[in-house]
Amino acid sequence: MTILKSKNELNRIREAGDIVSEVFALILDDIKPGMSTLELDEEIEEFILSKGAEPAFKGYKGYPATICASINEVVVHGVPSKDKVLSEGDIIGVDVGVKKRGFYADAARTFAVGKISREAEDLVDVTRKALSEATKEAVEGNRVSDISNVVQRIAREAGYQEVRAFVGHGIGENLHEPPEVPNWGEKGKGPLLKEGLVLAVEPMINAGTREIKILSDGWTAVTADKKLSAHFENTIIVGKKKAEIIT
Ligand code: MF3
Ligand code: CO
Repeated sequence: MTILKSKNELNRIREAGDIVSEVFALILDDIKPGMSTLELDEEIEEFILSKGAEPAFKGYKGYPATICASINEVVVHGVPSKDKVLSEGDIIGVDVGVKKRGFYADAARTFAVGKISREAEDLVDVTRKALSEATKEAVEGNRVSDISNVVQRIAREAGYQEVRAFVGHGIGENLHEPPEVPNWGEKGKGPLLKEGLVLAVEPMINAGTREIKILSDGWTAVTADKKLSAHFENTIIVGKKKAEIIT
């Protein structure tokens, strides 16, 4: 079951998406050695509330914070903490969800902290490219796995592995809706895409093994081999010829 949205609903999702985009612009200057992920979380929560919106993740299945802040080997769902302080050379995935007038948008970016290694930079570049190339497949008439296949192909061509333990998703009145959008698979499978379908496409790519472990906090997902992982996500609206990126 895929859920098509009305014009009015799409506009609410766009409003939520605008706030998410503004968050990433807001924090650009903060991603520096010395900043804790809790400070980042508090700044973003305050900003979202100031926009008359709500953080989408806080309280979701008991998640305790506004953002997920995932440093280096953390794949996703890093829980913000005053003890997690950014260091020169780190990469940090920041994942933000916003609810505005009943509708959600969800996105993530991986940022460099100061100067990073060439290896880290390549992983981040490849993951960003996987998202942008996969987004080109989000057009009416294609199927969900056309998106998935592009992410997998780009990861493998670079010598990396796509994460399978987490997937992208439909989004709208709920943070997670059908269909699931995996980051791997053969082309031409899964639900047919239609104009007005809203998806959160989110490649997670590991430098080493695709296997992950969940830490004892029940949230933090790390690579099983402790190598680096990167994550980019956008909320997009499937179009007739081109997807609209709303985050
Ligand atoms: N972008 C992630 C997702 O699609 C973030 C969810 S974190 C959670 O699920 F805390 F809300 F679960
Ligand atoms: Co998501």
